[in-house]
Amino acid sequence: MIGTSERRRKERALRVILLGGPGAGKGTQASFMCRHYCIPQISTGDMLRAAINGGTEIGRRVKHVMDSGLLVSDEIIITLVEDRLGKPDCRRGYLFDGFPRTIPQARALRDRAIVVDAVVELLVDDVEIVRRMSGRRVHAQSGRTYHVEFNPPKLPGKDDITGEDLVQRDDDREATVRKRLKVYHDQTEPLIAFYSDWSRSGDENAPTYVRIDGKNSVGRIRDDITAALG
Ligand code: AP5
Repeated sequence: MIGTSERRRKERALRVILLGGPGAGKGTQASFMCRHYCIPQISTGDMLRAAINGGTEIGRRVKHVMDSGLLVSDEIIITLVEDRLGKPDCRRGYLFDGFPRTIPQARALRDRAIVVDAVVELLVDDVEIVRRMSGRRVHAQSGRTYHVEFNPPKLPGKDDITGEDLVQRDDDREATVRKRLKVYHDQTEPLIAFYSDWSRSGDENAPTYVRIDGKNSVGRIRDDITAALG
């Protein structure tokens, strides 16, 4: 049986963007937030990896782009996201993880009047990011993420839910991580000004902008996010 406050939390719609560099902890916090707020996670990275693993036409077109640490075209990404938002589970809200990643993607959301209640930025410096990526392990089928030291699975090398093997992502090699960081600073960081300026503009459709110190522990960040979002 669920209590009244638990039920209200589950009934309230929440549409949120998690913004941050590669390895900032978006996927880690997204798993928790999606369970907590009962909303689906829309991770464009996971969707693209699923397309590659499924051998689809889109998968074939994006594989070399992702492996090299560059961004997939805005056109492909916007089509993927629009299709995903049409699914019934998005009616009560959604969490964008790794989207938008360019100003044209953010404008596409705004121009289509796709509601965003809050943008949560996870702030982590580049040195910490390189450290985190080297220890990251993922469950390929679900996208669940671990770290050998900071967020270990219950059994080394095994997914907590399915017990299947964890793997290292192809784009987590240090040279590729550094390229992804450059791409982040050049193309994604401008979204910080885009959303924080919009938030301060007085526009009633503007999302709330929240900045969280992403260098804290996984649990502390989780608490800071829930405190900020209510
Ligand atoms: P994507 O899969 O989105 O990768 P990313 O944004 O680079 O982010 P990551 O998944 O690498 O990291 P994360 O922030 O989720 O961190 P995590 O929680 O895993 O994109 C991959 C590629 O797809 C892109 O390069 C691009 O080519 C393409 N793409 C995707 N979306 C696109 C778009 N919109 N437009 C164009 N192209 C797109 O954490 C990292 C590690 O740190 C883990 O091991 C974790 O356990 C650990 N960790 C997490 N939190 C903490 C903590 N607080 N303390 C210590 N360790 C922690």
